[in-house]
Amino acid sequence: MQETNVPIPNQDAEVFHPAPEIVASANVQNVDQVRREAAIDLEGYWARRAGELEWYRKWDKVLDESAKPFFKWFVGGKTNIVLNALDRHVKTWRRNKLALIWEGETGEVRTYSYHALNREVCKFANVLKSMGVAKGDRVTIYMPRIPETVIAMLATAKLGAIHSVVYGGFSVEALHGRIEDSESKVIVTADGGRMNGKTVQLKKIVDEALTRTAAPENVVVVRHLGIDVSMEQGRDFWYHELMTLPLAKNSMRCETEVMDAEDPLFILYTSGTTGKPKAILHTHGGYQVGVYSTIKDVFDLKEEDRWWCTADPGWITGHSYIVYGPLLCGATSFMYEGAPTYPYPDRWWAMIEKYGVTVFYSTPTAIRGLMRFGQAWPGRHDLSTLRLLGSVGEPINPEAWRWFHKYIGREKCPIMDTWWQTETGMFLLTPLPATPLKPGSATLPYPGIDADIFGEDGKPVKVGEEGFLVMRKPWPAMMRTIYKDPDRYVQTYWTKFPGVYFAGDSARRDKDGYFWVIGRVDDVIKVSGYRLGTAELESAFITHPAVAEAAVIGLPHEIKGTAIHAYVILKPGQDGSDALIEELRQYIGHEVGPIAKPEKITIVQSLPKTRSGKIMRRVLKARARGMDEGDLSTLEE
Ligand code: WT7
Repeated sequence: MQETNVPIPNQDAEVFHPAPEIVASANVQNVDQVRREAAIDLEGYWARRAGELEWYRKWDKVLDESAKPFFKWFVGGKTNIVLNALDRHVKTWRRNKLALIWEGETGEVRTYSYHALNREVCKFANVLKSMGVAKGDRVTIYMPRIPETVIAMLATAKLGAIHSVVYGGFSVEALHGRIEDSESKVIVTADGGRMNGKTVQLKKIVDEALTRTAAPENVVVVRHLGIDVSMEQGRDFWYHELMTLPLAKNSMRCETEVMDAEDPLFILYTSGTTGKPKAILHTHGGYQVGVYSTIKDVFDLKEEDRWWCTADPGWITGHSYIVYGPLLCGATSFMYEGAPTYPYPDRWWAMIEKYGVTVFYSTPTAIRGLMRFGQAWPGRHDLSTLRLLGSVGEPINPEAWRWFHKYIGREKCPIMDTWWQTETGMFLLTPLPATPLKPGSATLPYPGIDADIFGEDGKPVKVGEEGFLVMRKPWPAMMRTIYKDPDRYVQTYWTKFPGVYFAGDSARRDKDGYFWVIGRVDDVIKVSGYRLGTAELESAFITHPAVAEAAVIGLPHEIKGTAIHAYVILKPGQDGSDALIEELRQYIGHEVGPIAKPEKITIVQSLPKTRSGKIMRRVLKARARGMDEGDLSTLEE
């Protein structure tokens, strides 16, 4: 089992009860009853939720378990997520409602009504179509946090093609691997993006990645910074030029492709135990039902809300809760390009005030980072529009929870600590506004979710004991498979406990049934909430000419939660100079991305290994922390 990175919270800790006015106005009033009903009639519950959305054709069967764990939802249903995210709104008064408000790091502002967003999406869908993109084709989207990212995702989905968004903080090798595995026809990127006063030259990274792979047919480049980039004739095209060409007759109109509920919507790469990231596949039907229901119930979205999820569209949080969730609800979503501390540590609080944000969803690592600067920074701003807060990505330590609650929420806003994963698509463990809260606990399963904690023996553990977090029943927004690797899907998630979903996290449950998630039990590290695989980092290390072998572990870090520590064996004749160590750090930044740069690199002569040659990361961790190394009977060294 995993050692704990955060101190184990006191499970009898203070309970925070939501204010009566929050409960009285909540979209879901009687969650215990809803939970009971959903437990008795799972399909009935999800059919009701699906019925809140539009369908080209209603489903014949809510859940088909005949080929489990390849579950199917809303079988026979015809839909497209864009039908519900855009098409149904532009038929109503919402065409004049703001869908997206965006602020760039340098202060530039852009807004899109539902009408305007739909128009841009239609135009760009026609552009993609003219490049030969059709149903089932893959489109890689490698972008800064700008509106065109959202437009490109929706345009791809509208055509029934599959988007593969690669986080703009990833770099050459990470991008190359993801482009190659997805066999994308088109890449959508930008000249660059802004982050913390610096520029990230995305097009340059794309060019380098494309020297390592059979190139996609086309690259579309958004001019965002206005910097010089090299454009390869016949392959690379400017977005703004394509968008003003008279491509088709009515180029502002584009039919939304009618999809089967189970047709793929996107793939999203996430790190696992091996060096090769997994392409998690989500579909049109179930995904939209799950994401729509959860954001509406948990974040209680109302017509007049202004929602801000601080994530990046390149991660699942951005897919589900910046792009699709808010649009499925017809909400107004705010998006910000840059860093929370630029130019000063009150940038986020200033924008909450400026735009009148009402619901704010962020991460423990960001809160810990901003806490450092003190409460005077938020104290300067009127944050009284806020009514609900949220947290995701890793367990939130009670100290950060209390600061968030007191100085951002003014002790009035409940904090929705949502536990979920790239694989789950939607929140699974989460409070609703009326749920009594305990700082550090993601509280209880969402209606229809049957969560438990199992011991090694596959039986539920006792109250207070640590075990593996599992789901006994499927849910509509669950991943359907790993793209091109269904065996790995079965092996990773459904084999440890046959027929039960294995999340890869350890957790405890307290006497009130509240879940306390502890952390990963596999070789995944959460650095500032970003999910990275030790094996992927190790593979990157050994492509450097000076490196013979490498082992990577995560160690506790005050702000990042976990930080990367690398142990490296050099090739004969290499010195372990500071200059080489710095070169290796930069190299990992260049190959994988700045977020992957190790906190510390230690040159070693040997690594603890099992007799079969597997690195014992557990032993490295224990040594680094001066702890008991545990059972060493399999150690070869
Ligand atoms: C892993 C999934 C899905 C949103 C972003 C991350 C950890 C996520 C919580 C939470 C404790 C959490 C888990 C999980 N995690 N939310 N509220 N409390 N841990 O998605 O990159 O797929 O990472 O993030 O370890 O397995 P992801």
